[in-house]
Amino acid sequence: MASPSQRRGVVTGAASGIGKATALRLAREGARVLAVDVNGGGLAELEGEAIETLAADVTDSKHRQTIADWADGAHYLVNSAGVVMVKPIFEITVEDWRRVQTINAEATFFLCQAIGPRLAAGGAIVNLSSSSAKFATTVEVAAYAASKTTILSITRSFAYALAARRVRVNAILPGIVDTPMQEEVLEKVAPMRGLTADEWREARNRAVPLGRGSSADECAGLIWFLLSDEAPYMTGQAINFTGGLVTW
Ligand SMILES: NC(=O)c1ccc[n+]([C@@H]2O[C@H](COP(=O)([O-])OP(=O)(O)OC[C@H]3O[C@@H](n4cnc5c(N)ncnc54)[C@H](O)[C@@H]3O)[C@@H](O)[C@H]2O)c1
Repeated sequence: MASPSQRRGVVTGAASGIGKATALRLAREGARVLAVDVNGGGLAELEGEAIETLAADVTDSKHRQTIADWADGAHYLVNSAGVVMVKPIFEITVEDWRRVQTINAEATFFLCQAIGPRLAAGGAIVNLSSSSAKFATTVEVAAYAASKTTILSITRSFAYALAARRVRVNAILPGIVDTPMQEEVLEKVAPMRGLTADEWREARNRAVPLGRGSSADECAGLIWFLLSDEAPYMTGQAINFTGGLVTW
């Protein structure tokens, strides 16, 4: 097994939020990182000795092939690229549905398929699901929630498929993590409910037993734990990261 300083890992969605914090965390832990995002400009500040960047669209099979070639013999894959779609449930179109499924679920499936068999024994994958896979309270993100529920199934299937190779696959279900995506949800959902973004932020935080949202760095800490040798017996799991909001 390679020492942490010899290990390599791919992080998608690395130009922003949780993906960015995770790429930086992996680099701090001594890994060499391929930071991938469709927003190439947003990756620029990550570029450095430990982090290579790649402007790529995870929905493009040729781009996924390029990522998989880099990942040959690597140890980590974090599927953090994603989009949210905020819309009243009765107005969601087939195109809306397909877009979120393609970016969030389909790309996660095919990156696990392309990269999982090429990871080194002892390697690990973390997929970003969401508490919306369990909770329907933010019904304005119904199509997104369905894509995040699909990710739970994808995670379980690849956990079984890759276990014999000693590659672990887990999902995390964040609730509120302060990132640009979370701001988008606040700004779009609040007026649909006749609230300001601040009013809805406060109401949501009050519903969280720990009374606040999380930072992206805190979320990256859980992702690192699941990737690391501290979690050698964990695979196929769906870990809530919600400040106590979801307990099942
Ligand atoms: N922030 C939260 O509260 C929260 C809660 C639950 C789940 N999540 C999940 O965590 C993950 C990261 O979310 P975030 O809050 O950091 O969001 P974010 O919007 O800050 O970052 C997402 C990144 O994904 C990239 N991306 C989008 N489509 C892509 C594509 N086709 N190819 C490559 N990159 C693409 C974006 O450019 C962006 O940089 C997402 O999958 C999201 O659904 C976030």
